[in-house]
Amino acid sequence: MTERIVLAYSGGLDTSVAIGWIGEATGAEVIAVAVDVGQGGESLEDIRQRALGCGAVEAYVADARDEFANEYAMPTLKANALYQGHYPLVSAISRPVIVKHLVKAAREFGATTVAHGCTGKGNDQVRFEVGIQTLGPDLKCIAPVRDLALTRDKAILYAESHNLPIETTKKNPYSIDQNVWGRAVETGYLEDIWNAPTKDIYDYTATPEFPPAPDEVIISFAQGVPVAIDGVKVTPLQAIQELNRRAGAQGVGRIDVVEDRLVGIKSREIYEAPGAMALMTAHKHLEDITIEREQARFKATVGQRWAELVYDGQWFSPLKRSLDAFIEDTQQHVNGDIRMTMHGGQAIVNGRRSETSLYDFDLATYDTGDTFDQSQAKGFIELWGMSSKVASQRDQRVSGL
Ligand code: ARG
Repeated sequence: MTERIVLAYSGGLDTSVAIGWIGEATGAEVIAVAVDVGQGGESLEDIRQRALGCGAVEAYVADARDEFANEYAMPTLKANALYQGHYPLVSAISRPVIVKHLVKAAREFGATTVAHGCTGKGNDQVRFEVGIQTLGPDLKCIAPVRDLALTRDKAILYAESHNLPIETTKKNPYSIDQNVWGRAVETGYLEDIWNAPTKDIYDYTATPEFPPAPDEVIISFAQGVPVAIDGVKVTPLQAIQELNRRAGAQGVGRIDVVEDRLVGIKSREIYEAPGAMALMTAHKHLEDITIEREQARFKATVGQRWAELVYDGQWFSPLKRSLDAFIEDTQQHVNGDIRMTMHGGQAIVNGRRSETSLYDFDLATYDTGDTFDQSQAKGFIELWGMSSKVASQRDQRVSGL
């Protein structure tokens, strides 16, 4: 029986050419798998037909939008996960869900190998291959762009000489990856890190210098997950989509960073994640009133570690799973409403209410009705500073001052 290879197919030039390229290099049959994680653009049926037109023996499309929102974006929100304090892991969380569908397709179609279109310089190759190794230890991995030296020029020549049903003239100078959680743009003009991004780079966000009137929104959460917007019930996917639209119109969620890749390179990245950043802002403010101080402090370090693991391609690792259990436990009382004004590139919280709040008006107030016993403060401070005071006395004694 001819060997079969499942290819992660985007519909773009590289992966379209990869279908025939892999076939010629290996003699295997190629099954193209496209996964819908809310990237928008062309219809998946068009993408499927193109894969067949490029020589795939089967082309399979998976609608993973709700799965992605529920099982990948929501854990990121619950973790308030921002890699290096900036990046809400847009591409990093889409790789594991794509891997799941690739491995599933490999099983269904009897493939021995999984192929992806990543280069050898980025994080995505690591995320794909670590994921595939973990979920399908018996499967082999190949990366035609990296391992079979499929350059862009060769891809264009190949597509033209084989009359592939794909556009080769449209030259996009950027490498773009997008899904419902956000959009990543890199390379080209952006590689000079002093160059400011030009307006044409953006797609999910409007330029905030010319904002429409401020947009006030109320987001309701249950156990850390958005369940309603302005009182209208939503699924996680709908919440992200609705806020992509509304926060995006206000220019919220633009990020311009130089980040540390796992492969040791620093790289310039432009991200747009209006829905993700609006949700994360609201979620964090709700946590501020519903999570106890020590748990919240520890959760911040857990969230940071979680972001690093996910960035580094360890989505399916035991440590990530354990951290998920901790984070999930912290979300039990993260219920209530956050009111937020989105305007001029910012989302600013201006109201919060929750049945499970830890905010105690009677303890906090400086007005009459104050139940906080201020006489307890003096002794507390005495003991709180005790160990530093004792150490300082020793230091002064020893240094003879
Ligand atoms: N640097 C980001 C990450 O590693 C985004 C990668 C986007 N991928 C792409 N092929 N443009 O998560």
